[in-house]
Amino acid sequence: MSYYRLMIWYLKGRKEYTRIGYEAASKHFCEDDLKVDCKGKVYVITGANSGIGKCVALDVAKRGGCVHMVCRNPQYAETAKNEIVEASGSKDVYIHILDLSVPRDVVKFANEFQETVNSCDVLVNNAGCMLHEKQVDGDGLEKNFATNSLGTHILTKKLMPLLKKTDKSRVVTVTSGGMLLQKLSHEDIQLEKMVPFDGTTAYSQQKRQQVTMTEMYAKEYPEVHFSVMHPGWADTPAVRSAMPSFYEKMKDTLRTPEQGADTALWLAISDKALQHPSGLFFQDRAPVSIHLPLAWTRSTDAEKEIFMNQMNELMKKFDDSHT
Ligand SMILES: NC(=O)c1ccc[n+]([C@@H]2O[C@H](COP(=O)([O-])OP(=O)(O)OC[C@H]3O[C@@H](n4cnc5c(N)ncnc54)[C@H](OP(=O)(O)O)[C@@H]3O)[C@@H](O)[C@H]2O)c1
Repeated sequence: MSYYRLMIWYLKGRKEYTRIGYEAASKHFCEDDLKVDCKGKVYVITGANSGIGKCVALDVAKRGGCVHMVCRNPQYAETAKNEIVEASGSKDVYIHILDLSVPRDVVKFANEFQETVNSCDVLVNNAGCMLHEKQVDGDGLEKNFATNSLGTHILTKKLMPLLKKTDKSRVVTVTSGGMLLQKLSHEDIQLEKMVPFDGTTAYSQQKRQQVTMTEMYAKEYPEVHFSVMHPGWADTPAVRSAMPSFYEKMKDTLRTPEQGADTALWLAISDKALQHPSGLFFQDRAPVSIHLPLAWTRSTDAEKEIFMNQMNELMKKFDDSHT
């Protein structure tokens, strides 16, 4: 990665991604955008026990939406659910235990969800991780990739029949501005050639992959509204544990989890969000560029197709019904 690109990104981040950035951007927000009645709608939110996902889940529950929390850890999930139920006064909150890094379990969850709940208005792909030690499972999947990219892809594709049959359905994916540092690695999608392994680079690459996936889904499924967003730099458990030195340096300037979650919520519930074309990347309730100025991060349509074909081939390995 070029030093120039990193410098530009860091300076942009200090200005836009911090709490000050949020406060400046939010002066242009329209308060009424979030005055929405979510009653009668089903929201599936991954990583809803913590940080940004939990804030979105709570705000949807407060507005009467039916919340399905997709979480990895039963104890964390139960604690968060109790807090959401208490703070929102809604009992329409359900837990599903799923480790998104296990593709067979993602397929099983989605099949069961179709059979039991059989409805999905909004999917929020929020769960994510940045592991610094390389972990590869028996199927050859690196864990960051399995969670951030493949898990997100399989869940989105598998819930598509439900999303497609619902009017004004949406998929919101929480990416990271770190993706601006990466060009899509369309052939080596798991960065197997990266030696030594670097978790931060892998994470940024997968966040770029989520942006490409969103763009490609929008073309493939015009009936559904897709968006992908950067929360800014928010004080959450993931930032504290995965980026301790960044956290130490930046902790006084970070956004609150609620500020980080604002655009994800806005994309998930507001009418305004639907006025934007499907497939765009958002920051603070506005579509923004997916490339830094003069950065060599653009991919051709053919490269994006090669990447998506590989994602679909991988998915097929775990889901016989996917063709
Ligand atoms: N906070 C920021 O500044 C920032 C900046 C850019 C992007 N993001 C993105 O925002 C999203 C939410 O992160 P956060 O900052 O709110 O951190 P967080 O509070 O730590 O939330 C991360 C969530 O993802 C879940 N998760 C991780 N791996 C999983 C897996 N294999 N299966 C199921 N769930 C899994 C975690 O579950 P456990 O509780 O069980 O670990 C947790 O609920 C992530 O996609 C992250 O990349 C955050």
